[in-house]
Amino acid sequence: MGATAVVTEMVAAAGLSRRSVKSHKLLCFHVEEEPIGVQLFGSRPKDFEEAAEIVSGLGFAFIDINAGCPVKKVVRNGSGSALLRNIPTLAAIVRAVSSHTSLPVTVKIRTGWSPAEPVPECLPGILADEGAAAIAVHGRYRTDMFSGKVRKSEIERIVRNSPIPVIANGDSENVFVALDLIDSTGAAGLMVGRGALGNPWIFRGLTGKPEDAFPLPGEVVSVIQQQYEMMSEYIPENHLYHILRGQLLHYIKGFRGASELRRKATGVDSMEDLSDILYELEQLLNLERQRSND
Ligand SMILES: Cc1cc2nc3c(=O)[nH]c(=O)nc-3n(C[C@H](O)[C@H](O)[C@H](O)COP(=O)(O)O)c2cc1C
Repeated sequence: MGATAVVTEMVAAAGLSRRSVKSHKLLCFHVEEEPIGVQLFGSRPKDFEEAAEIVSGLGFAFIDINAGCPVKKVVRNGSGSALLRNIPTLAAIVRAVSSHTSLPVTVKIRTGWSPAEPVPECLPGILADEGAAAIAVHGRYRTDMFSGKVRKSEIERIVRNSPIPVIANGDSENVFVALDLIDSTGAAGLMVGRGALGNPWIFRGLTGKPEDAFPLPGEVVSVIQQQYEMMSEYIPENHLYHILRGQLLHYIKGFRGASELRRKATGVDSMEDLSDILYELEQLLNLERQRSND
């Protein structure tokens, strides 16, 4: 759809270094996902050294270091956004990775731990000196978790202090909000998370004309079919429909009849069920389109 790159979910550096099968499975990707970066999380530079060596030969385009995850289980171990309170360790991790790979290294951060502990102005320079090629910033503090509005002025402050490109992130729920996030922060790039669920066309709108972000009914149906086919290659049948139902709900919203169809989608349990839902979805989207043209 036009996205420049995608990133894996976070993979434990310690898991890779102790050869955990579960961690290694997360490194699996499809050629059509390229260029793809791998995101590592952890708290010990030594684990990152080994993890960087392991992932470097697998076809990834870059290695991203997670210094933004707010989840308790992660920060309790000094990983994710806890690294924002421990700049020497974060710097050592960036150094460990960049000295053990020839791939570009990026760092994903938040704006700080809390409003009382924003990231220091020198942080972008430190990350750059240790070998980082770019920084992605989710415009929230760890204490915000996912609530409140994205803090654009805080992203802008990091952009202003950074010698390397900054990618803005947070709350890009549609193409217009996303374009405003770039404009108001002066960021070099944009990262879209939740806004792409059920709406991959956001990337088409961002890289082309904004109106390209709004798909035709037939396009919605064919992308869901494509997603289903790709998912069925990776996910065993006993999990497939459970995960598919969650994905369908992201697509079925914002038009008349959506709530009734969502209810039906929560019962999808076979390919036939899916075909019925997609048939109905296309009808409803066509009706909605006619209404907006009238
Ligand atoms: C279910 C879920 C899982 C996430 N997993 C990761 C992750 O593994 N690594 C990461 O850096 N951010 C992760 N994030 C955070 C997103 O990358 C992003 O920073 C955040 O959702 C804000 O951007 P958005 O409003 O565009 O979604 C996750 C977010 C959600 C909702």
